[in-house]
Amino acid sequence: MADFQKVARRDEIPEGQGKVVEIAGRTIAVFQSGGKFYATDNTCLHRGGPLGEGHVKENVVSCPWHMWGFDVTTGLCTVNEEFKLETFPVKVEGEEILVGI
Ligand code: FES
Repeated sequence: MADFQKVARRDEIPEGQGKVVEIAGRTIAVFQSGGKFYATDNTCLHRGGPLGEGHVKENVVSCPWHMWGFDVTTGLCTVNEEFKLETFPVKVEGEEILVGI
């Protein structure tokens, strides 16, 4: 069972943006896309760029370093599907966003 922890308030992560959070010793990116929230590992599988600082369009976050894309709903890289980020379950309770790890 995932242990859900509060990571942000809804208004801290506007549509199309992300936030980098630390939980359980992990660095995780939390995004809002299409009115829903998603969480993935923050570290880009290309050269370690901070995905939580990227912008999301149609569920794909673009890494701010060299623009590799990752589907925030599945973790799959849109450049090369052999690469897949770890994803984490997200719950919204009122104004709070919780991530399970
Ligand atoms: S480090 Fe993310 S695209 Fe290069």
